[in-house]
Amino acid sequence: AHGQSLAGRRILVTAAGTEEALDPVRFLGNRSTGRMGFAVAAEAARRGAEVILVAGPTPLATPTGVRRVDVRSARDMHAAVRAEYDGVDAVIKAAAVADYRPAEMAEHKIKKSDGELTLKLTRNPDILYELGQQKKHQILVGFAAETQNVAEYARGKLAKKNLDFIVANNVAEQDAGFGVPTNHVQIFYADGRAEDHPLMAKAALAGVILDRLEETFQKRG
Ligand code: C5P
Repeated sequence: AHGQSLAGRRILVTAAGTEEALDPVRFLGNRSTGRMGFAVAAEAARRGAEVILVAGPTPLATPTGVRRVDVRSARDMHAAVRAEYDGVDAVIKAAAVADYRPAEMAEHKIKKSDGELTLKLTRNPDILYELGQQKKHQILVGFAAETQNVAEYARGKLAKKNLDFIVANNVAEQDAGFGVPTNHVQIFYADGRAEDHPLMAKAALAGVILDRLEETFQKRG
């Protein structure tokens, strides 16, 4: 339907959660499966874009025509994204990046004892915030998974991270967010517009997001 509407564009997509190691066998993670980002990568490749997919750990198969870079931690993702940023026309950041990691990674498996164990966490880099600070020609698209005050938090992130638009969902809803094949989102734009979208398959939503990306490219001329 869209022919090669993204031919000549290079698009970086990030997907899935990150794993923050505690020791050689344990990590802190989250419930992201990578389905949303993989759907966007697949559809962008179908529309003729050159797609780089930076993916956290997930069993999902690499979409046809996509160059995949596997990462584990937020810091790995940070390095992989930075390495590609100058050369891309757009970044779609669907990954659920851990905000914190264990302050220390134990060299050997942590042994149990009878008492409590306290974990100390330290902040990870905010990758998208940094991309926003260094933005030149790139179009930046973020995601916001919230459980309350969706519009307020999403607009805050849009501004703070210098995004062109942000796709926000309430992950407390049963058919939206992590681990389900559907999503229910609102999209907020830098010019103040907002759109409500009905519940739809993530593959269909990928199409909507890329339609909006194409419009943003066209407006730039
Ligand atoms: O976690 P937060 O709600 O701030 O995520 C909003 C956007 O920022 C998402 O697109 C996410 O991929 C990105 N992000 C990031 N690096 C982080 C945290 C979030 O790139 N450390």
